[in-house]
Amino acid sequence: MITSDSVVTLRLMTEQDLPMLHDWLNRHHIFEWWGGEEARPTLAEVLEEYAPNNLSRESVTAYIAMLDGEPIGYAQSYVALGSGDGWWEDETDPGVRGIDQSLADPSQLGKGLGTKLVHALVEMLFQDPEVTKIQTDPAPDNLRAIRCYEKAGFVRQKTIATPDGPAVYMVQTRQAFEQARSAARPFHREDESRQPGLASPVERH
Ligand SMILES: CC(C)(COP(=O)(O)OP(=O)(O)OC[C@H]1O[C@@H](n2cnc3c(N)ncnc32)[C@H](O)[C@@H]1OP(=O)(O)O)[C@@H](O)C(=O)NCCC(=O)NCCS
Repeated sequence: MITSDSVVTLRLMTEQDLPMLHDWLNRHHIFEWWGGEEARPTLAEVLEEYAPNNLSRESVTAYIAMLDGEPIGYAQSYVALGSGDGWWEDETDPGVRGIDQSLADPSQLGKGLGTKLVHALVEMLFQDPEVTKIQTDPAPDNLRAIRCYEKAGFVRQKTIATPDGPAVYMVQTRQAFEQARSAARPFHREDESRQPGLASPVERH
């Protein structure tokens, strides 16, 4: 069961995950936003295109999202600069990363898991001090994904043309991420000694 305490974690995807990924990429709720019916991949295509070694040659890292020990979704991050094939040609900053993700089970959509997944991915990517900004590019009519990204701290910039068609360009800068994190930081006892009049916003046990 999904509760507000449910924790989504990420692990690196391995070759063993590829048959499962093939199944997921052929599910309607995923392929409708990942290239459409004609982009449904065969197992051979997934084994080739998503093999972690092949992805890393394109500066893409693939992850499996986990909840309570079960795989619940696919996520990937990439280095935007030098993506090739017409992607991100104006990018000059080597610190920009992009993300994409999908939940595997259509019955789990719209319950907050995607927001948890994106939070986990953003948190992990910003652990690398070289990362300056994270971007994403949902289709303009993928309102659920756009809302999920907004809840996870992304801000819409503009509509752009990509090799896959129009997209909403959304970003989260390191500065915005760190500001949001310090605003959410739990109240500390040392702060209390400096500001004795303030009530603690978190319960202590
Ligand atoms: C995109 C995806 C990862 C988001 O995960 P999720 O768990 O469904 O998203 P969340 O529940 O965390 O947030 C979705 C938000 O969109 C809202 N939403 C859902 N359908 C919506 C719609 N048609 N219009 C506007 N908002 C919508 C939900 O109400 C929720 O917002 P709220 O919490 O303010 O009410 C998931 O839906 C998914 O895998 N979709 C299929 C594949 C896909 O689109 N991948 C993304 C490609 S960019």
